[in-house]
Amino acid sequence: MNTKNRILELLEQHRGESISGQRIAEILNISRNAVWKATKELQKDGYHIVAVTNKGYRLSDENDIISISGIKPFLSERSLPYADKIQIYQSLESTNKTAKEMAIAGAEHGTVVISDCQTLGRGRYSRSFFSPSGGGLYMSMVLRPEVLHFENPTSVTAFAAVSVCEAIEAISKKAPKIKWVNDVFIDGKKVCGILTEAITDFESGRLDWIVLGIGINVYTRTEDFPDDLRSLATSIYPDKKPFGVRNRLSAEIINRMIGFEAPPSETEIFEKYKKRLMMLGEKITVIQAQTEYKATAINIDSAGHLIVENENGQLCTLSSGEIRIRK
Ligand code: BTN
Repeated sequence: MNTKNRILELLEQHRGESISGQRIAEILNISRNAVWKATKELQKDGYHIVAVTNKGYRLSDENDIISISGIKPFLSERSLPYADKIQIYQSLESTNKTAKEMAIAGAEHGTVVISDCQTLGRGRYSRSFFSPSGGGLYMSMVLRPEVLHFENPTSVTAFAAVSVCEAIEAISKKAPKIKWVNDVFIDGKKVCGILTEAITDFESGRLDWIVLGIGINVYTRTEDFPDDLRSLATSIYPDKKPFGVRNRLSAEIINRMIGFEAPPSETEIFEKYKKRLMMLGEKITVIQAQTEYKATAINIDSAGHLIVENENGQLCTLSSGEIRIRK
Protein backbone atom coordinates (compact mmCIF):
# COMPACT_ATOMS: atom_id res chain seq x y z
CA MET A 1 0.00 0.00 0.00
CA ASN A 2 1.40 3.42 -0.89
CA THR A 3 1.89 6.24 1.63
CA LYS A 4 -1.29 8.07 0.58
CA ASN A 5 -3.45 5.01 1.17
CA ARG A 6 -1.74 4.19 4.45
CA ILE A 7 -2.42 7.74 5.71
CA LEU A 8 -6.01 7.54 4.50
CA GLU A 9 -6.53 4.27 6.32
CA LEU A 10 -5.11 5.74 9.52
CA LEU A 11 -7.35 8.82 9.25
CA GLU A 12 -10.37 6.59 8.61
CA GLN A 13 -9.51 4.56 11.72
CA HIS A 14 -9.42 7.83 13.69
CA ARG A 15 -12.51 9.39 12.08
CA GLY A 16 -13.82 12.26 14.19
CA GLU A 17 -10.47 12.96 15.88
CA SER A 18 -7.26 14.73 14.89
CA ILE A 19 -3.99 12.91 14.68
CA SER A 20 -0.71 14.83 14.63
CA GLY A 21 1.75 14.69 11.73
CA GLN A 22 4.37 13.48 14.19
CA ARG A 23 2.16 10.56 15.35
CA ILE A 24 1.32 9.59 11.75
CA ALA A 25 5.01 9.68 10.87
CA GLU A 26 5.86 7.43 13.85
CA ILE A 27 3.09 4.91 13.17
CA LEU A 28 3.91 4.64 9.47
CA ASN A 29 7.66 4.92 10.00
CA ILE A 30 8.04 7.77 7.51
CA SER A 31 9.27 11.37 7.75
CA ARG A 32 6.98 14.27 8.75
CA ASN A 33 7.73 15.80 5.39
CA ALA A 34 6.44 12.65 3.66
CA VAL A 35 3.23 12.92 5.74
CA TRP A 36 2.80 16.57 4.75
CA LYS A 37 3.42 15.82 1.06
CA ALA A 38 1.03 12.86 0.94
CA THR A 39 -1.80 14.72 2.73
CA LYS A 40 -1.41 17.63 0.27
CA GLU A 41 -1.75 15.15 -2.59
CA LEU A 42 -4.81 13.53 -0.98
CA GLN A 43 -6.43 16.96 -0.63
CA LYS A 44 -5.70 17.58 -4.32
CA ASP A 45 -7.36 14.22 -5.10
CA GLY A 46 -10.53 15.57 -3.46
CA TYR A 47 -10.28 14.18 0.08
CA HIS A 48 -11.54 16.61 2.71
CA ILE A 49 -8.64 16.48 5.17
CA VAL A 50 -8.66 19.25 7.74
CA ALA A 51 -5.26 20.37 9.05
CA VAL A 52 -5.58 22.10 12.44
CA THR A 53 -2.59 23.90 13.95
CA ASN A 54 -1.22 22.10 17.02
CA LYS A 55 -3.72 19.26 16.58
CA GLY A 56 -2.89 17.60 13.31
CA TYR A 57 -4.99 16.09 10.57
CA ARG A 58 -8.59 14.98 10.58
CA LEU A 59 -10.80 13.42 7.94
CA SER A 60 -13.75 15.75 7.60
CA ASP A 61 -17.23 14.25 7.87
CA GLU A 62 -17.84 15.74 4.44
CA ASN A 63 -15.41 13.27 2.96
CA ASP A 64 -17.44 11.14 0.62
CA ILE A 65 -14.99 9.48 -1.69
CA ILE A 66 -15.47 5.74 -2.01
CA SER A 67 -12.13 4.15 -1.24
CA ILE A 68 -10.72 0.88 0.01
CA SER A 69 -9.36 2.68 3.08
CA GLY A 70 -12.87 4.04 3.66
CA ILE A 71 -14.55 0.64 3.26
CA LYS A 72 -12.03 -1.39 5.26
CA PRO A 73 -12.87 -0.18 8.78
CA PHE A 74 -16.44 -1.43 8.26
CA LEU A 75 -15.54 -4.86 6.88
CA SER A 76 -16.13 -7.81 9.17
CA GLU A 77 -13.24 -10.06 10.04
CA ARG A 78 -14.42 -12.59 7.47
CA SER A 79 -14.69 -9.94 4.75
CA LEU A 80 -11.27 -8.35 5.37
CA PRO A 81 -9.34 -10.91 3.28
CA TYR A 82 -11.48 -9.76 0.31
CA ALA A 83 -10.45 -6.09 0.70
CA ASP A 84 -7.71 -6.48 -1.91
CA LYS A 85 -10.28 -7.78 -4.40
CA ILE A 86 -12.17 -4.47 -4.34
CA GLN A 87 -11.54 -2.26 -7.38
CA ILE A 88 -12.73 1.33 -7.27
CA TYR A 89 -13.14 3.64 -10.26
CA GLN A 90 -14.25 7.24 -10.68
CA SER A 91 -16.21 6.52 -13.83
CA LEU A 92 -17.06 3.38 -15.80
CA GLU A 93 -19.53 2.63 -18.54
CA SER A 94 -21.03 -0.03 -16.33
CA THR A 95 -19.61 -1.88 -13.33
CA ASN A 96 -21.37 -5.03 -14.58
CA LYS A 97 -19.54 -4.74 -17.90
CA THR A 98 -16.16 -4.38 -16.18
CA ALA A 99 -16.90 -7.17 -13.69
CA LYS A 100 -17.94 -9.46 -16.57
CA GLU A 101 -14.66 -8.80 -18.36
CA MET A 102 -12.86 -9.63 -15.12
CA ALA A 103 -14.93 -12.81 -14.62
CA ILE A 104 -14.10 -13.98 -18.15
CA ALA A 105 -10.43 -13.28 -17.46
CA GLY A 106 -10.67 -15.52 -14.38
CA ALA A 107 -11.39 -13.09 -11.52
CA GLU A 108 -11.87 -14.87 -8.23
CA HIS A 109 -15.07 -15.19 -6.24
CA GLY A 110 -15.56 -12.00 -4.22
CA THR A 111 -14.05 -9.58 -6.73
CA VAL A 112 -15.94 -6.30 -6.32
CA VAL A 113 -16.09 -3.42 -8.81
CA ILE A 114 -17.40 -0.05 -7.60
CA SER A 115 -17.64 3.19 -9.55
CA ASP A 116 -18.55 6.70 -8.40
CA CYS A 117 -20.64 7.07 -11.56
CA GLN A 118 -21.59 5.08 -14.66
CA THR A 119 -21.92 6.53 -18.13
CA LEU A 120 -23.93 3.57 -19.44
CA GLY A 121 -25.43 2.05 -16.29
CA ARG A 122 -27.71 -0.82 -17.33
CA GLY A 123 -30.89 -2.20 -15.87
CA ARG A 124 -33.07 -5.20 -16.65
CA TYR A 125 -34.71 -5.47 -20.07
CA SER A 126 -31.87 -3.33 -21.56
CA ARG A 127 -33.11 -0.25 -19.74
CA SER A 128 -30.63 2.34 -18.55
CA PHE A 129 -29.88 2.91 -14.89
CA PHE A 130 -29.49 6.53 -13.72
CA SER A 131 -25.99 6.63 -12.17
CA PRO A 132 -24.81 10.21 -11.47
CA SER A 133 -21.51 10.98 -9.78
CA GLY A 134 -21.78 11.25 -6.00
CA GLY A 135 -25.44 10.22 -6.06
CA GLY A 136 -25.35 6.53 -5.40
CA LEU A 137 -23.53 3.28 -4.96
CA TYR A 138 -22.92 1.32 -8.15
CA MET A 139 -21.26 -2.00 -7.46
CA SER A 140 -20.90 -5.37 -9.14
CA MET A 141 -19.46 -8.54 -7.71
CA VAL A 142 -18.09 -11.66 -9.31
CA LEU A 143 -19.58 -14.69 -7.59
CA ARG A 144 -18.58 -18.26 -8.33
CA PRO A 145 -21.43 -20.79 -8.11
CA GLU A 146 -19.21 -23.41 -6.49
CA VAL A 147 -18.82 -21.11 -3.46
CA LEU A 148 -22.50 -20.21 -3.16
CA HIS A 149 -23.69 -23.67 -4.26
CA PHE A 150 -27.33 -22.62 -4.57
CA GLU A 151 -29.54 -25.25 -6.17
CA ASN A 152 -31.55 -22.59 -7.92
CA PRO A 153 -29.32 -19.94 -9.55
CA THR A 154 -32.01 -17.26 -9.19
CA SER A 155 -31.65 -17.49 -5.42
CA VAL A 156 -28.59 -15.26 -5.73
CA THR A 157 -30.79 -12.32 -6.75
CA ALA A 158 -33.06 -12.85 -3.76
CA PHE A 159 -29.94 -13.13 -1.58
CA ALA A 160 -28.79 -9.74 -2.95
CA ALA A 161 -32.20 -8.09 -2.43
CA VAL A 162 -32.33 -9.27 1.19
CA SER A 163 -28.68 -8.24 1.78
CA VAL A 164 -29.27 -4.76 0.35
CA CYS A 165 -32.36 -4.29 2.56
CA GLU A 166 -30.42 -5.34 5.65
CA ALA A 167 -27.45 -3.13 4.70
CA ILE A 168 -29.68 -0.07 4.20
CA GLU A 169 -31.39 -0.80 7.50
CA ALA A 170 -28.01 -1.06 9.23
CA ILE A 171 -26.92 2.42 8.13
CA SER A 172 -30.24 4.28 8.25
CA LYS A 173 -33.54 4.13 10.08
CA LYS A 174 -35.35 3.23 6.85
CA ALA A 175 -37.34 0.00 6.45
CA PRO A 176 -36.72 -1.23 2.89
CA LYS A 177 -39.12 -3.62 1.21
CA ILE A 178 -38.80 -5.88 -1.83
CA LYS A 179 -40.91 -5.63 -4.94
CA TRP A 180 -40.84 -8.90 -6.84
CA VAL A 181 -38.53 -9.81 -8.49
CA ASN A 182 -35.62 -7.81 -7.20
CA ASP A 183 -36.33 -4.13 -6.69
CA VAL A 184 -35.82 -2.57 -3.28
CA PHE A 185 -38.33 0.08 -2.27
CA ILE A 186 -38.52 2.71 0.45
CA ASP A 187 -41.77 4.56 1.10
CA GLY A 188 -43.35 3.11 -2.04
CA LYS A 189 -40.57 4.19 -4.42
CA LYS A 190 -37.63 2.31 -5.93
CA VAL A 191 -34.31 2.88 -4.17
CA CYS A 192 -32.27 0.02 -5.63
CA GLY A 193 -32.19 -2.17 -8.71
CA ILE A 194 -30.33 -5.45 -9.10
CA LEU A 195 -29.06 -6.89 -12.36
CA THR A 196 -27.77 -10.46 -12.30
CA GLU A 197 -25.88 -11.80 -15.29
CA ALA A 198 -24.40 -15.27 -15.62
CA ILE A 199 -22.67 -17.46 -18.13
CA THR A 200 -23.18 -21.16 -18.50
CA ASP A 201 -20.65 -23.54 -19.98
CA PHE A 202 -22.26 -24.70 -23.23
CA GLU A 203 -20.93 -28.27 -23.05
CA SER A 204 -21.46 -29.10 -19.39
CA GLY A 205 -24.45 -26.83 -18.81
CA ARG A 206 -22.68 -25.74 -15.62
CA LEU A 207 -22.89 -22.16 -14.43
CA ASP A 208 -19.41 -20.62 -14.79
CA TRP A 209 -19.79 -17.29 -13.05
CA ILE A 210 -22.37 -14.82 -11.87
CA VAL A 211 -22.00 -11.06 -12.00
CA LEU A 212 -24.32 -9.39 -9.59
CA GLY A 213 -24.85 -5.65 -10.10
CA ILE A 214 -26.40 -3.47 -7.44
CA GLY A 215 -27.37 0.16 -7.99
CA ILE A 216 -28.55 2.10 -4.93
CA ASN A 217 -29.72 5.70 -4.96
CA VAL A 218 -28.03 7.04 -1.84
CA TYR A 219 -28.15 10.83 -1.91
CA THR A 220 -30.00 11.79 -5.08
CA ARG A 221 -32.56 14.51 -4.30
CA THR A 222 -36.05 14.06 -5.72
CA GLU A 223 -35.61 17.07 -8.01
CA ASP A 224 -32.36 15.65 -9.40
CA PHE A 225 -33.96 12.50 -10.85
CA PRO A 226 -34.87 12.75 -14.54
CA ASP A 227 -38.55 13.67 -15.15
CA ASP A 228 -39.62 10.12 -16.01
CA LEU A 229 -38.19 8.72 -12.76
CA ARG A 230 -39.13 11.45 -10.30
CA SER A 231 -42.43 9.93 -9.19
CA LEU A 232 -41.07 6.36 -9.18
CA ALA A 233 -37.60 6.60 -7.62
CA THR A 234 -36.22 7.76 -4.32
CA SER A 235 -32.94 7.57 -2.47
CA ILE A 236 -31.95 6.60 1.07
CA TYR A 237 -31.36 10.27 1.92
CA PRO A 238 -33.44 12.36 -0.51
CA ASP A 239 -33.53 15.43 1.78
CA LYS A 240 -30.49 15.74 3.98
CA LYS A 241 -27.09 14.45 3.00
CA PRO A 242 -25.18 12.70 5.77
CA PHE A 243 -21.75 12.48 4.19
CA GLY A 244 -19.61 9.45 3.87
CA VAL A 245 -22.11 6.61 4.08
CA ARG A 246 -21.29 4.97 0.75
CA ASN A 247 -18.15 3.30 2.14
CA ARG A 248 -20.07 1.82 5.05
CA LEU A 249 -22.95 0.77 2.81
CA SER A 250 -20.51 -1.04 0.47
CA ALA A 251 -18.98 -2.86 3.45
CA GLU A 252 -22.36 -3.84 4.88
CA ILE A 253 -23.27 -5.46 1.55
CA ILE A 254 -19.90 -7.20 1.19
CA ASN A 255 -20.16 -8.49 4.79
CA ARG A 256 -23.48 -10.12 3.99
CA MET A 257 -22.85 -11.37 0.47
CA ILE A 258 -19.20 -12.37 0.57
CA GLY A 259 -17.82 -12.42 4.11
CA PHE A 260 -19.87 -15.35 5.38
CA GLU A 261 -18.65 -18.48 7.14
CA ALA A 262 -21.07 -20.54 5.07
CA PRO A 263 -23.60 -19.19 2.57
CA PRO A 264 -27.15 -18.99 3.91
CA SER A 265 -29.52 -21.75 2.86
CA GLU A 266 -32.05 -20.94 0.16
CA THR A 267 -34.85 -21.62 2.67
CA GLU A 268 -33.37 -19.00 4.97
CA ILE A 269 -33.03 -16.49 2.11
CA PHE A 270 -36.61 -16.90 0.93
CA GLU A 271 -37.98 -16.70 4.48
CA LYS A 272 -36.32 -13.29 4.84
CA TYR A 273 -37.31 -12.32 1.29
CA LYS A 274 -40.97 -13.12 1.89
CA LYS A 275 -41.05 -11.06 5.10
CA ARG A 276 -40.02 -8.01 3.10
CA LEU A 277 -42.15 -8.66 0.04
CA MET A 278 -44.45 -5.71 -0.60
CA MET A 279 -47.47 -7.01 -2.39
CA LEU A 280 -48.77 -10.31 -1.07
CA GLY A 281 -52.57 -10.17 -1.03
CA GLU A 282 -52.61 -7.05 -3.20
CA LYS A 283 -54.13 -6.46 -6.61
CA ILE A 284 -51.44 -6.27 -9.25
CA THR A 285 -50.98 -6.02 -12.99
CA VAL A 286 -48.74 -8.71 -14.45
CA ILE A 287 -46.67 -7.61 -17.45
CA GLN A 288 -45.20 -10.43 -19.53
CA ALA A 289 -43.73 -10.00 -23.00
CA GLN A 290 -46.44 -8.05 -24.86
CA THR A 291 -49.33 -8.99 -22.57
CA GLU A 292 -50.73 -7.54 -19.37
CA TYR A 293 -53.38 -8.99 -17.07
CA LYS A 294 -54.93 -8.25 -13.73
CA ALA A 295 -54.31 -10.61 -10.83
CA THR A 296 -53.83 -10.87 -7.08
CA ALA A 297 -50.41 -11.75 -5.64
CA ILE A 298 -50.90 -14.85 -3.51
CA ASN A 299 -47.57 -16.24 -2.40
CA ILE A 300 -43.93 -16.86 -3.24
CA ASP A 301 -42.64 -20.43 -3.60
CA SER A 302 -39.32 -21.86 -2.43
CA ALA A 303 -37.67 -20.97 -5.74
CA GLY A 304 -38.78 -17.34 -5.59
CA HIS A 305 -41.56 -17.75 -8.15
CA LEU A 306 -44.56 -15.51 -7.60
CA ILE A 307 -47.90 -17.28 -7.41
CA VAL A 308 -50.78 -15.12 -8.61
CA GLU A 309 -54.48 -15.66 -9.07
CA ASN A 310 -55.88 -14.24 -12.29
CA GLU A 311 -59.36 -12.80 -12.66
CA ASN A 312 -60.74 -16.22 -13.65
CA GLY A 313 -59.57 -17.65 -10.35
CA GLN A 314 -56.72 -19.62 -11.93
CA LEU A 315 -53.38 -19.83 -10.14
CA CYS A 316 -50.30 -19.01 -12.26
CA THR A 317 -46.67 -19.34 -11.24
CA LEU A 318 -44.44 -16.55 -12.54
CA SER A 319 -40.72 -17.08 -12.85
CA SER A 320 -40.02 -13.84 -14.68
CA GLY A 321 -41.74 -10.71 -15.87
CA GLU A 322 -42.76 -7.59 -14.08
CA ILE A 323 -45.63 -6.58 -11.91
CA ARG A 324 -47.22 -3.27 -11.12
CA ILE A 325 -49.12 -2.77 -7.90
CA ARG A 326 -52.62 -1.46 -8.65
CA LYS A 327 -53.82 1.45 -6.55
C1 BTN B 1 -32.84 -2.59 -12.70
O1 BTN B 1 -33.39 -1.85 -11.89
O2 BTN B 1 -33.39 -2.91 -13.76
C2 BTN B 1 -31.45 -3.10 -12.41
C3 BTN B 1 -30.48 -1.98 -12.22
C4 BTN B 1 -29.08 -2.43 -11.91
C5 BTN B 1 -28.11 -1.29 -11.82
C6 BTN B 1 -26.76 -1.72 -11.37
S1 BTN B 1 -25.71 -0.35 -11.02
C7 BTN B 1 -24.34 -1.39 -10.90
C8 BTN B 1 -24.47 -2.40 -12.01
N1 BTN B 1 -23.94 -1.89 -13.26
C9 BTN B 1 -24.87 -1.71 -14.18
O3 BTN B 1 -24.68 -1.29 -15.33
N2 BTN B 1 -26.06 -2.11 -13.71
C10 BTN B 1 -25.96 -2.58 -12.33
